[in-house]
Amino acid sequence: MEKIKDQISIIQKAFKEELRQVQTADHLEQIRIIYLGRQGNVAELMGTLKQLTIDEKRVVGPLLNKLKKALTQSYERKLNTLEKADSKKTTFDLSAYKPNQLHGSLHIFTLITEQLQTIFSTMGYTIIDGPEVETDYYNFSSLNIPEDHPARDAHDTFWLSNPGYLLRTHTSSAQAHAMEKTKPPLAIFSPGRVYRNEATDASHDFMFMQGEGLFIDKNVSISNLMATAQDFLQAFFEKKDLKIRVRPGYFPFVEPGLEIDGSCPFCKKGCSVCKKTGWIELLGAGLVHPNVLKCNKIDPNVYSGFAFGFGFERLAMIKYGINDIRLFRSDNLQFLKQF
Ligand code: PHE
Repeated sequence: MEKIKDQISIIQKAFKEELRQVQTADHLEQIRIIYLGRQGNVAELMGTLKQLTIDEKRVVGPLLNKLKKALTQSYERKLNTLEKADSKKTTFDLSAYKPNQLHGSLHIFTLITEQLQTIFSTMGYTIIDGPEVETDYYNFSSLNIPEDHPARDAHDTFWLSNPGYLLRTHTSSAQAHAMEKTKPPLAIFSPGRVYRNEATDASHDFMFMQGEGLFIDKNVSISNLMATAQDFLQAFFEKKDLKIRVRPGYFPFVEPGLEIDGSCPFCKKGCSVCKKTGWIELLGAGLVHPNVLKCNKIDPNVYSGFAFGFGFERLAMIKYGINDIRLFRSDNLQFLKQF
């Protein structure tokens, strides 16, 4: 009987010691099986009760029950602590951070530029690039805007400290570059950044994207311009039934000058986008002014042409329902990730 009592206290101490070292639920389970399992140390000791007398059993029985109870309680306490630690760990679950899900996407400018380049190259236009730092000549004079012309004021130019140099205010500056390089017939589309020294708001930015189209050949007329504008706008807005209308507009480098509106791609009768008119102003355009042709040594009696220009942000804002031009250059991932 004394032997059993000794064993009880040995088991108790050993269990306590082993439990202290347990760090994982798996380890704890191994310990449970060794001590409290059906063939474990406690069960084995219980088995030895049979060899004792009734009186001895009366003493040892309760001791063994007490041992089993104490071990079970310690085991449960340990299990509890491990589970708690485990649930705390899950709030720092590193597997929840999946960097491979933050994949990049093309910027909306890239998408729009690629789309426009595809549309115009399909129509036979050559895509050309022009410098963003320009001279007065390419930005103004070659476009029939002489030095004292009031139209210059409308451009809010960023002049550079180097006299005669500026940040181009429109992609029309590509026109003279194109005419210098290529004799007519010529068809170019020139996309790029332009700059205006003006305050920013939801529809104005000091830097934005424009595209310039220029087509020069014999017998080019307004109907060619209208067909081109309609085809282009239908392709861009993916609306085969988009119609256009023209209104007079003033740009010194075209005569006549036109504003081209597109029928609202969102409604038939008028909505907030078209301000209830059913039409949206989309392009500046016109027939190339004879002075511009002459300036580039192209005979206006032989050749004629049309030019058109537009802001990418404006078209994209209409197409995708974007309400603030400043979002394009923001680091707002929620905005950028949609495209
Ligand atoms: N360059 C003009 C602008 O920036 C747009 C335009 C281009 C108008 C070509 C007519 C012809 O507003």
